[in-house]
Amino acid sequence: MPAEFRAFVAEQLAGRVERGVRRVAAADLPVGEVTVRVDWSSVNYKDALATQPDGRVARMNPLVPGIDLAGEVVASDDPAIAAGSAVLAHGYELGVARQGGFAEYNRLPAGWVVPLPEGLSAREAMTIGTAGFTAGLSIARLEARGLEPSLGPILVTGASGGVGRMAVAILLDRGYETWASTGKEAAHDDLQALGVSGILPRAEVIAESPRPLEAERWAAAVDCVGGATLPYLLRTLRYGGAVAASGNTGGAAFSTTVFPFILRGAALIGVDSAALPIAERRVMWERLATDLRPRGLGERVTEVTLEELPEALDGILAGRAHGRWIVRVAA
Ligand SMILES: NC(=O)c1ccc[n+]([C@@H]2O[C@H](COP(=O)([O-])OP(=O)(O)OC[C@H]3O[C@@H](n4cnc5c(N)ncnc54)[C@H](OP(=O)(O)O)[C@@H]3O)[C@@H](O)[C@H]2O)c1
Repeated sequence: MPAEFRAFVAEQLAGRVERGVRRVAAADLPVGEVTVRVDWSSVNYKDALATQPDGRVARMNPLVPGIDLAGEVVASDDPAIAAGSAVLAHGYELGVARQGGFAEYNRLPAGWVVPLPEGLSAREAMTIGTAGFTAGLSIARLEARGLEPSLGPILVTGASGGVGRMAVAILLDRGYETWASTGKEAAHDDLQALGVSGILPRAEVIAESPRPLEAERWAAAVDCVGGATLPYLLRTLRYGGAVAASGNTGGAAFSTTVFPFILRGAALIGVDSAALPIAERRVMWERLATDLRPRGLGERVTEVTLEELPEALDGILAGRAHGRWIVRVAA
């Protein structure tokens, strides 16, 4: 590998963050068994927070963000991971407390590495990325609790964004009657073309209600918005339904009552992709290449270079995401 390579660096200075492409020395790569040439990464909401002065994500400074990556192994001290093999990684400390995916090379602990599943290119893997993984995991968690298409309609919130649109695409392919909630009118045509049965404006799912329970509507929900959305979802779940909650773009705090839980047997399932043990992570990626593969993978994908990252990072933070931004890391 070269002695130096290009990386997008975010440096916290007094009250501001300086962002841009710099040259980084290979000698400064962190310790690990597997050295990877990064071909693709993707832009996730957490990456944008990692480049904000008050984002509360970055745990090192300066930081190369990028919570996921895919590429080729150029050197390996682990007999199970051969040089030349295609791999991906995401979560753990990547792009938070350790150099992330927005760099041409990276070095990883072998226990973080996922072999690229057959049937997925590195580009497709990062089109799915952390967002699609989280969507797939949310659906797997709901199904492990007994969800199946015959139980009724599913609502996906934040449906135009990374996690949301991927969840819609996976649910539709699995035969669910899928509804979308979005704050973007401009996303309606796309969601309808994907196959949703109906669209709820964001205003409807964040509206406050004096009633602790409302008409039973949803068999389940995939929610990455949090905040004011969760009370709506909980009070409109059908008996025995569940919400898989993974995000907080709409806020962190929410207020609800115990009634959905004690009168309708509702469940709130937390979904975390970052610290998920590697064995389950590898199984999930095999599923994302097969039975959980999102419908229309490759649609609504915007490709950016390392130099073009600031626009994508600002866009995702401003709620402008529609589908996925992927990063072509190699020059
Ligand atoms: N738990 C985990 O392991 C995990 C993994 C990945 C992501 N996440 C979290 O999941 C959330 C979504 O991530 P993402 O990468 O999918 O982000 P994204 O692409 O920006 O999508 C988020 C969507 O949330 C909706 N939204 C609703 N209220 C909003 C508001 N007040 N401001 C901005 N957006 C709002 C928007 O969709 P509409 O306009 O369609 O409503 C937006 O497109 C984030 O909180 C992220 O940190 C968690």
